Amino acid sequence: MDKNTFYITTPIYYPSDKLHIGHSYTTVACDALARFKRLQGKEVMFLTGTDEHGQKIQDKAAAAGVTPKQYVDNIVEGPGGVKDLWKLLDISYDRFIRTTDDYHMESCQKIFTTLHDKGDIYKSVYKGHYCKPCESFWTDSQLKDGKCPDCGRDVYEAEEEAYFFKTSKYADRLLKWYEENPQFIQPESRKNEMIAFIKQGLQDTCVSRTTVPWGIPVPFDTKHTMYVWVDALSNYITALGYGNEKYSDYDKFWPADIHMVGKEILRFHTILWPAMLMALDLPLPKRVFGHGWLLMNGGKMSKSVGNVVDPVVLCQRYGVDAIRYFLLREIPFGNDGMFTNEALINRINSDLANDLGNLLSRTVAMCEKYFGGTVAPTGAATEFDEDLKAVVSAMPAQVAKDMDELLIPQALQEIFKAIQRANKYIDETAPWALAKDESKKEQLQQVLYNLCESLRMAAILLNAYLPNTAPKMAAQLGLAEGELSFEDLSWGKRASYTVHKGEALFPRIDVNKELAELAAQDAARKAAAEAAKAAEKPAEAPKAEQAEAKEQEHLPEITIDDFAKCEMRVAKVLTCERLKESKKLLKFTLFDGERERTILSGIAKWYAPEDLIGKHLCIVANLAPRPMMKGKYVSEGMIVSAEDDEGNVTVLQLPETVKPGAQLC
Ligand code: ME8
Ligand code: MG
Repeated sequence: MDKNTFYITTPIYYPSDKLHIGHSYTTVACDALARFKRLQGKEVMFLTGTDEHGQKIQDKAAAAGVTPKQYVDNIVEGPGGVKDLWKLLDISYDRFIRTTDDYHMESCQKIFTTLHDKGDIYKSVYKGHYCKPCESFWTDSQLKDGKCPDCGRDVYEAEEEAYFFKTSKYADRLLKWYEENPQFIQPESRKNEMIAFIKQGLQDTCVSRTTVPWGIPVPFDTKHTMYVWVDALSNYITALGYGNEKYSDYDKFWPADIHMVGKEILRFHTILWPAMLMALDLPLPKRVFGHGWLLMNGGKMSKSVGNVVDPVVLCQRYGVDAIRYFLLREIPFGNDGMFTNEALINRINSDLANDLGNLLSRTVAMCEKYFGGTVAPTGAATEFDEDLKAVVSAMPAQVAKDMDELLIPQALQEIFKAIQRANKYIDETAPWALAKDESKKEQLQQVLYNLCESLRMAAILLNAYLPNTAPKMAAQLGLAEGELSFEDLSWGKRASYTVHKGEALFPRIDVNKELAELAAQDAARKAAAEAAKAAEKPAEAPKAEQAEAKEQEHLPEITIDDFAKCEMRVAKVLTCERLKESKKLLKFTLFDGERERTILSGIAKWYAPEDLIGKHLCIVANLAPRPMMKGKYVSEGMIVSAEDDEGNVTVLQLPETVKPGAQLC
């Protein structure tokens, strides 16, 4: 028999920056599923949280001059942080896990030890390529044109003592599992990618690092910290109390009904995670669904690309439910979808304002106008009643089926099909004409009752998707809280209606005016950002500009060939520290697109190390290596800076969009 519980999870998010609407997409979809299952009477566990360890967070915190914990605390719990965003978007999660929570770390250590004791984790040496933004190791054959196969960014060589998990041992069992459980990986096309990935030969997974202190220590060898993915994936069971005393509902909810994840992390969830569970002798989740990306200007919306849309701004402008509706309805679930302001506004106008909003306001207004607000069935049918009733009655089962298959846009389409049918029914029956004829009064009342019934059924279902709007509909229809469950979804269930006119659900937006306003705002924002940037370096600039132009010293003329001998590249600062031996020098490790190199630079007077960590600088890459500090260090190149005639030095910085390795020419 089907369990009456439903366990659904979102990925746990990296709190390395504020979340954007792309992140909200996964969470809103899970929320709709969770709410729908609750509506159906299931006991739901909806888990979300944050993935707080690893190099990326460590770097961000260092750049911000705070501890990693302070850094993530602010992004998760602080004003405008992750929890605030979920509150704004009405995310009805039941539990929120942070991987820095003590109970989670305790459980992860137990899991790691168990896997080690069983011989599935062993010590060896890691040689390979590491993609920092993805926190992923890659072998030669996995690289795509020498770059990270997931994000296309540069990788760098890494070699270190490490623990490995025997993923390869589980290849056959995984393939067999996929075959025997066809619903395990969805959508189908992604399943084939995973099968191909396994068949090309699985490598064991490097599961510890000795160079990333911000992580969970390996309990029996504490100079190692756990690889973030082992830590992160375990959240799905530690949050239920596996290996800890904090919670005790593992037996009730595991295995998960759905892990919902973005397509780029599907592989971790369908290979590494099930292999870990197999090694632990635990049941596997029932389904892993890999959804597509929300795109903007053709690319995946992401902070590093710089094309993010702030969900808070959108919600303030259009309302939370409009944003939820757009995300759920517009993007074919499983595929990528574009975010544009125009598409958003059109959805709001056509579906929410016209179809839904108008149906409710017209119905309520007519009930009040013709019957003082109260209508009941009279049995006086029109020739259009049967069709309306058929379409509306078929809706709940069809919506439930779509939701089970994770066809969320189709489910909404089904609801709006009924809403559109009801609007057409108004045109067909022309209540204003019936009202003119005293002998049609009963028919008129039946028509209005039928419209109320249609709206009632739609409102119940819409609770899952539009948690602010559906209660407003219910209030205007005079429905009580106790009649909003799945069981109430039968035609004719309500004996009568007493309606109460309320505000319009979604005011119509003037598309052209709105787009013009948004464009103006965008331009103003860009100008403000430019101005803020210019203001970052105050005082000196204007003074220098006002100063009389001085005669500059010049070097002899060179040819283009002379210039071409100088290899100047963009490099990203990985670490930067003061040297106790020198007041002048800062010691950098930089990633130059190919490898890490050390450069000592005499700029300690103008910069603190944290000012420059993570920054993209320009280096002279082919300068002969130079021993410094009596040979203690070798500086491999030079950092390019500008020096004014008062001797002030400013390091040349490039925007993050210019990747390490880019050559200056
Ligand atoms: O991957 N469109 O965290 P994350 C749609 N910590 N979905 C998007 C998106 C976009 N533009 N941008 C991000 C991680 N996402 C790990 C997960 S789970 C054990 C560990 C989705 O913050 C992305 O696909 O980088 C992923 O599913 C989720 O946001 C979290 O991404
Ligand atoms: Mg990611």
